Amino acid sequence: MNLATRISRISVSKTMAVMEAAIKLRDQGIDVVDFGPGEPDFPTPENVKQAGIRAIQADFTKYTAIGGIKELKKAIVDKHAREFGSKYDVSECVVNIGGKHAIFSIFAAVVDEGDDVIIPTPYWVTFADIARFVNSNPVFVPTKESEGFRLTAEVLQRALTPKTRLVVVNSPNNPSGAIVEDAEFGRIARLCSERNVYLLSDECYSHFLYDGRKPFSVASYTDLKSHIVIAGSLSKTYSMTGWRIGYVLALPEIIDGIVKLQSHSTSNPTSVSQKAALEALSGPQESVGVMLAEYARRRKFVLERLRAIPGVKCAEPGGTFYAYPNISAAFGRGGIRDSVDFSARLLEKAHVAVTPGEAFGTAEHVRISYATSMEQLDKGLKRIHEFMASL
Ligand SMILES: Cc1ncc(COP(=O)(O)O)c(C=O)c1O
Repeated sequence: MNLATRISRISVSKTMAVMEAAIKLRDQGIDVVDFGPGEPDFPTPENVKQAGIRAIQADFTKYTAIGGIKELKKAIVDKHAREFGSKYDVSECVVNIGGKHAIFSIFAAVVDEGDDVIIPTPYWVTFADIARFVNSNPVFVPTKESEGFRLTAEVLQRALTPKTRLVVVNSPNNPSGAIVEDAEFGRIARLCSERNVYLLSDECYSHFLYDGRKPFSVASYTDLKSHIVIAGSLSKTYSMTGWRIGYVLALPEIIDGIVKLQSHSTSNPTSVSQKAALEALSGPQESVGVMLAEYARRRKFVLERLRAIPGVKCAEPGGTFYAYPNISAAFGRGGIRDSVDFSARLLEKAHVAVTPGEAFGTAEHVRISYATSMEQLDKGLKRIHEFMASL
């Protein structure tokens, strides 16, 4: 049977192959240390869970407004304004089924077939596949490991052409943890505005920043609002991955386009989840700091242990809960040619699951998620060290 060509343009995430192999080993009773998951290992905060339960008990279980309930949209724009100095009206906000859906909707609303979409490398794989799905051309712009994978306006400028429609920036970055400096982000936004290109800022990890750095949004440059589109998510900040709530902040025309699409596809985000999200955004925020403090402790531990492995280099992640070490010292040893081979061999021999850098557009790295316990980190890093030494 022939499927539609748009489906053949996208592939199952490369991160899935490692996950499936890890599950197989686990099913055989093998103790696998899993550094793959891209989700917090904390429960959803109690006040948020209770809000969801209350919503069910109050029969808030029917259709809602397609783009989300007004109270939630107001909570989103108010919090964004309070924290970042942005200026959005409720009519400039739509609630989606998670950040991924927010990003998908933005592409669907603003990118045409044949447009170029600039995606800095390393990148979260979904950006590239959505670009392909809408039949645009992903244009990958490499950032340098020696510069901590930092993205600059200068690098982007060289990649812009009259065909460019959208520039995607994800800071802090999945997988590298790299951060775009606040002033540099402003320069990037100004460049996009001058060239009449949309800047999509994915703020999924915006609250997980280290060394006392304050969360920042490019939407604080309110004079550049016409070319900025924000994709937000509650998944990581409030450990709500399963509740599926994300949002878009943009000009009303873009929001209306997305609502129109939503009206013929998903309809409203889950009613109960919207009430839980409202509590997450407007209730106590302590849980965010608790998670961040724990990630900070783990980041230090992971970096120290990775850097102690002969041949392994690791740029310092400024945010997220990922480390992105360079393991190319293993290439040419034991038949390992790239990070896919490395990850497969590491899983098979040392029973540690990591995500190969090929999934993020670089061949010399693997992604390690430290959204897991210190005991698991200790065990897994010991195994990686021994594995490298055995090659
Ligand atoms: C960079 C990035 N953006 C967005 C998302 C979307 O997350 P969700 O759809 O759970 O909100 C993720 C999830 O892994 C991510 O890594």
